[in-house]
Amino acid sequence: MKIIITENYDKMSKIANKIIEQIISKKPKSTIGFATGTTPLRLYDLMAKSSVDYSKITTFNLDEYIGLSKENEQSYFYFMKSNLFDKIGIKTEQINFANGDIKDYKKECERYSNLLNNHQRDVQILGIGSNGHIAFNEPKTPFNSITHIVKLTKNTIKDNSRLFDNKNDVPKYAITMGLKEIMQSKKIILLANGENKAKAVFDMSYGPISIKVPASILQLHPDCTVIIDKNAGSLIKKA
Ligand code: GLP
Repeated sequence: MKIIITENYDKMSKIANKIIEQIISKKPKSTIGFATGTTPLRLYDLMAKSSVDYSKITTFNLDEYIGLSKENEQSYFYFMKSNLFDKIGIKTEQINFANGDIKDYKKECERYSNLLNNHQRDVQILGIGSNGHIAFNEPKTPFNSITHIVKLTKNTIKDNSRLFDNKNDVPKYAITMGLKEIMQSKKIILLANGENKAKAVFDMSYGPISIKVPASILQLHPDCTVIIDKNAGSLIKKA
């Protein structure tokens, strides 16, 4: 695991942007795994403004809330379309998402898992939850998990409620790529900024590899780059 501590959020995003640009320049038809959340927003902004042509990539997203349609402004699908895909010329056929708005979830998990097995990601972008989750793989998720339905923890519902008008509007369940599938990506870039991520980032990087901190599995990935701002890196610096 390579760790890059940057001065601020903007620098963190610019370094990530450079790495993604290099990957696409070498392979314009790359398959990219995307994350939602506020952390990658500046990166997506930079990608949208970049001179690199992203129109040939295939995308896979990490997760989706259960019960929200693609048209719902709080859905992760809507988030990706409006913050990135529409801006870089990605058509619906190139977008792969787990659908959270269907009745047969078991079938949907199988469908998404099969797709992931057949399309290795060249790079997976990740954020991290303050409890060490990646995608929606909450603490105690087995490391060999594949796409599954998850009941969100109180902590995650509280963290994510800032993006909803009311805490009660936050969905209680989500469909998420599993840890085994995240690890299948050739390269992983994890971004984190802010003091509230410092403990999760420290535990992920230097703590024991344990299901208590799902992101700690990334210590076993052969090509994982962690890019963080100095606040998220504060405990690492102290140590
Ligand atoms: C959600 C997402 C994660 C994301 C995390 C952190 O729970 N499922 O993929 O990494 O939030 O979000 P933020 O970047 O807003 O802190």
